[in-house]
Amino acid sequence: MTEVGAPAGEAAPIALVMAERPSPGVLLLRLNRPGKLNALSKALLSELVDHLRSAEHDAGTACVVLTGNGKAFAAGADITDMLERGVDSYADPERLSLWRQIETWPKPMIAAVNGYALGGGLELALLCDIVIAGRAARFATPEIKIGSFPGDGGTQRLPRAVGKSFAMQMVLTGMMVDAGLAEHKGLVSEVVADEDLIARAVEIASEIAAMSVAITPYAKRAVNAAFELPLERGTELERALTIEAFGTEDRVEGLRAFKEKRAPKFKGR
Ligand code: CAA
Repeated sequence: MTEVGAPAGEAAPIALVMAERPSPGVLLLRLNRPGKLNALSKALLSELVDHLRSAEHDAGTACVVLTGNGKAFAAGADITDMLERGVDSYADPERLSLWRQIETWPKPMIAAVNGYALGGGLELALLCDIVIAGRAARFATPEIKIGSFPGDGGTQRLPRAVGKSFAMQMVLTGMMVDAGLAEHKGLVSEVVADEDLIARAVEIASEIAAMSVAITPYAKRAVNAAFELPLERGTELERALTIEAFGTEDRVEGLRAFKEKRAPKFKGR
């Protein structure tokens, strides 16, 4: 695996998010604040967004895999910061803007959940388009135990993922959900052995990267609309996006390749 952004011979500062290029078209971003279980400080979110911004404009990145390290994917918002700055730690416009930028990032993103995905960590996984988990993964919205409740999308996205009753049970009790139960409830699409987690996530990402980079963001936007819009408006958007996507070269190439019984050669436009 090649590490991105560390020039040969130079000691790079310790990054809160490490980037690797495990296979063509795939960028692996690893949250790297293990001493604090990857708690989502503003600095960490800012580094994550910097990587996503560069990847958005990088034709060589078709899909991102987001993972953690040690025993955590991410253990939530930074509780120390919340205690020190109170509501400003949450309502900080820069922090909210960072979340918004992750929410609206256009390319496909896969969460490879390796350990604790708690509070804001679960909310981050829920922003990803596909969530897969290692057997050691644990999911919870434990905010209620510290006199709070999910505030970065969890109260909205969790019920959409697992239904109202189980979401309420999680939010109101803070219960810890293991990987098997998470899969059963539809929170994750696959559970794999811990040692296979990254390889499997990269395998899925590589399949996505082999598709047209021009088209996958349309597909992502259309599917996400199912969680954001009433059915009628969602299908209207789907139609509008389909019509727009007909204007891409790759759409024509895909149809032509099928007719000519050959593999398409997508150009990403
Ligand atoms: N913020 C800041 N620091 C955190 C953290 C967090 N969310 N989670 C863990 N840490 C720190 C711990 O304070 C500890 O640091 P020190 O060694 O300096 O004391 C270090 O990470 C390791 O954690 P533990 O020693 O607690 O590890 P453990 O294995 O005994 O327990 C755990 C693991 C059960 C996940 C426990 O760390 C825990 O309960 N963490 C908090 C989880 C949580 O409540 N998350 C929700 C935060 S609120 C939120 O997301 C959104 C919101 O409210 C709006």
